[in-house]
Amino acid sequence: MNFPPDFVFGAATAAYQIEGSTTADGRGESIWDRFCSTPGKVENGDTGDPACEHYVRWREDLDLMRSLGLGGYRFSIAWPRIQPDGRGPANQKGLDFYRGLAEGLLERGITPLATLYHWDLPQALEDSGGWASRDVVARFVDYAGLVFDGLGDLVQDWITHNEPWVTSFLGYAHGTKAPGTKSWPAAIAASHHTLLAHGAAVRAFRDRGRPGRIGITLDLTIAEPSTDAPEDRAAAERLHQHHNSWFIEPVFRGSYPQDIVALYEQRFGPIDAVRDGDLELVSEPIDFLGVNFYRPNLVAADPTQPPLDFREVERAVPRTSLDWPIVPSALTELLLQLRHDCPDTPLVITENGAAFADDLDGGDVVEDPERRAYLQEHIEAVERAIAQGADVRGYYAWSFMDNFEWEHGYSQRFGLVYVDYPSQRRVLKRSALWYRDLIARQSEGKG
Ligand code: FCB
Repeated sequence: MNFPPDFVFGAATAAYQIEGSTTADGRGESIWDRFCSTPGKVENGDTGDPACEHYVRWREDLDLMRSLGLGGYRFSIAWPRIQPDGRGPANQKGLDFYRGLAEGLLERGITPLATLYHWDLPQALEDSGGWASRDVVARFVDYAGLVFDGLGDLVQDWITHNEPWVTSFLGYAHGTKAPGTKSWPAAIAASHHTLLAHGAAVRAFRDRGRPGRIGITLDLTIAEPSTDAPEDRAAAERLHQHHNSWFIEPVFRGSYPQDIVALYEQRFGPIDAVRDGDLELVSEPIDFLGVNFYRPNLVAADPTQPPLDFREVERAVPRTSLDWPIVPSALTELLLQLRHDCPDTPLVITENGAAFADDLDGGDVVEDPERRAYLQEHIEAVERAIAQGADVRGYYAWSFMDNFEWEHGYSQRFGLVYVDYPSQRRVLKRSALWYRDLIARQSEGKG
C-alpha cells in the first residue's frame, strides 16, 4: 500500500469506554453512569467501571501504543471530570489527568487528537433538559473554553463532537443510548443544539488565536436502495438525508436539507429550535471533517416504520459480531462522495473497525484473522479513494483496545489489543501486529 508521507496511522478510544474510576478525583455523574444503573438498559448490567482501568493504567497503555508505532491517538475528554455538574470552574484534577496523558503521548512521539464530547454529558445538565434544551449550548462553550485554555499548549488537534447523529437520534428518539429518551421532537432539537454547540466551540477556539486545527466527527453511511423500484430509491434517499445531509449541509452550507425539514414538520410540527443567525454559527469554517465509517445500509421502503418509512434489508455478505455487514467498497464510495459534499475539506477517518468474538487461548497473541482482514480491506479502500482524488489525511482504527461498547457492555470486542477484564492484562491481537508492520513499512516508504 502507498499513502502520502505525512498520512497519520493511529487508533481511537473514548473516555467512558476505557477510563473506569468514575468517581475519582471529583468526577461528576454522567448520563452514561445513570443509563447503566437503570435496569435493562445495558447488556449484563455492565457499567463504565472498571472498563479498562485506563485512568490508572494509562502509562502502560501509551507504552503499548508506542510499541505499535502509532503516529496519532484519538481520545476523548470526559466533561464530568472537568465540570462535575456541567458548569462552573474547571476541576484541576480532571484537567491534570488529560495534561499527563497529552504529555505522555508527546514524549512517545504520538500526536494527540482530542474529542471534546463523546457522549458523556454531565447528568446535572440532562436534568435541566440535556441536548434537547438550548441552554446546553452555552454550557458546552464554557466547557470547551476551559479545555482549550487548560490543554491548548499540549493539544493542537480538536474534534468538537463525536457522531451528533448518535447523540441526538439514538439518545433522544430511539432511546437505545443515554439518556434513553424516546421523542423525535426532542431528538430533532438535540441535533440542532449539538450542531450549534459545535459552531460556538469552533468560534471560541478561533477567538483564542491558538495554533491548531478543529473539526467535527460524523458517522456517515452509504444508503443503497434494495431494488430499483422508485419507492426503495426514495427510502434510501430519505435515510441519506436524515443520517448524512442533516449534519453535512448545515456545517458546510449553512442550511438543513429541505425535504427532511418538510418530512419532520409534517409529522411533528414546526421545528422551533432553529433561530435567526444559528446556521451562520453552525457553518463556522472548520479545518477537517472526521469520518467514522463501519457499514453501509441496504434499504427498502416500509410505511409501517415511521417517521422515515424504511427498513434495512439483509445482504449476503460476511458480518461482524454486531451483525454489521462488511462492505469495504462503501468506504471508497463515501470518501469520493464527500469530495463533492464538502469540497476543499481534508478528511480524517476518525474511526473504523470491527467487533468479533476473540478468544484468549493462553498464547502470547490473540488470533483475529477476520479483524485483520476487515482493517486491511478498509485501509485499501481508503487508499483507492486517495488515488481517485480524495484528500484523506489519516486513519484511526477503532479501537486501540477492547472496551465498554455502550448498550452492549463488554460483550463486543473492537480492540487491536485484547483486554482480559478480570486481570486487566493487555494482550496483543494479530491485527495489532499487522497494523504495526503496515505503519513501519509506510514510514520506510516501502508500501
Ligand atoms: C461508534 C462510536 C464508538 C464505538 C464504535 C463501535 O459509533 O463512536 O464509541 O462505540 O461506534
